[in-house]
Amino acid sequence: MAPVYEATVSAPVNIAVIKYWGKRDPTLILPTNSSLSVTLSQDHLSTRTTVRASPDFGGDRLWLNGAEEDVGASRRLANAIATARGLRAALEDQAGGGAVPLSQWPVHVCSENNFPTAAGLASSASGYAALVSALAALYELPQSASELSRVARVGSGSACRSMLGGFVAWHAGVAADGSDSLAEQVAARQHWPEMQALVLVVSDQKKAVSSTAGMQTTVETSALFAERVRTVVPARMAAMQRAIAERDFAAFAEITMKDSNQFHAVCLDTYPPISYMNDTSRAIAGLVHAFNAAVGRVAAAYTYDAGPNAVIYALEPDMRALVELLAYCFPRPADTAPEAFYPDPFGLFESPAS
Ligand code: DP6
Repeated sequence: MAPVYEATVSAPVNIAVIKYWGKRDPTLILPTNSSLSVTLSQDHLSTRTTVRASPDFGGDRLWLNGAEEDVGASRRLANAIATARGLRAALEDQAGGGAVPLSQWPVHVCSENNFPTAAGLASSASGYAALVSALAALYELPQSASELSRVARVGSGSACRSMLGGFVAWHAGVAADGSDSLAEQVAARQHWPEMQALVLVVSDQKKAVSSTAGMQTTVETSALFAERVRTVVPARMAAMQRAIAERDFAAFAEITMKDSNQFHAVCLDTYPPISYMNDTSRAIAGLVHAFNAAVGRVAAAYTYDAGPNAVIYALEPDMRALVELLAYCFPRPADTAPEAFYPDPFGLFESPAS
């Protein structure tokens, strides 16, 4: 029987505090601006991927959450696998016949999210990061996570940031071949242990306009967007890195909220306009501002991606107070069990008897 080589790796979701929106090269996925994100804990939102290679496999195949997908239908998937294979082939060349010719064998990819795919949460970031990390393990690639982020990037832009933990910058780069467009850790998670993220699922509907299509229309039609790329984002990248280095939460939070707001403003300035936030999203943003006003400092920040779901950043113990306030203002529907409606990170909804 022919040998089968296998590797399994998990990768988490990341949530941008300075948004990536716009490509200068859609094939290599080179962005118009740098971006910065926080990689969330692997326990809650992550993708676990197993890759297997064997000379006996008839061709590359992919299963997503148990259902087989057509690998030929995704150019990005083909690009990501081909790029990882290219790195393995270079390694095999160097070994001069002394390495297993894995680069020539088809792969089977089996990928599962530990959160409902229908929940409207970004799964392409953790998905491509897990795929590339698993291929790198299978192929025993010597490249660093930052170097491998270039491979994840050709699958989905935001995926390059999920290759690293903690606070991560994706440098837009200037090179036409994408060699300097990669992710780098700005600070480890332990640098700021009190930092917490809360994901509020406002709607589990699939978004009407995909990020990929939406950002291309923005690049082509929005006048505000040009200004964002030219002056706003470079200043914010510098200020955000300073805020993280100094653990200045008020500065971190203000930049996060302003950048989310500008991203959604640029979406509305797109023609035809794109509207990702809904009334509930806007009510949550209003509540965060009311909370900050009540406590007399900037204690929490919201951010929204290409959909209505909110992510809140706050430090412990402010997050506890905010969760209680959110649960009070957005009560669960009568027919839903508390544990199904609230993830309850702090055990606030446990009945004393249980
Ligand atoms: C709003 O990474 O999903 O979440 O590169 O086309 O796959 P593609 O787009 P994607 O876009 C993410 C956009 C965003 C902002 C961000 O994560 O920075």
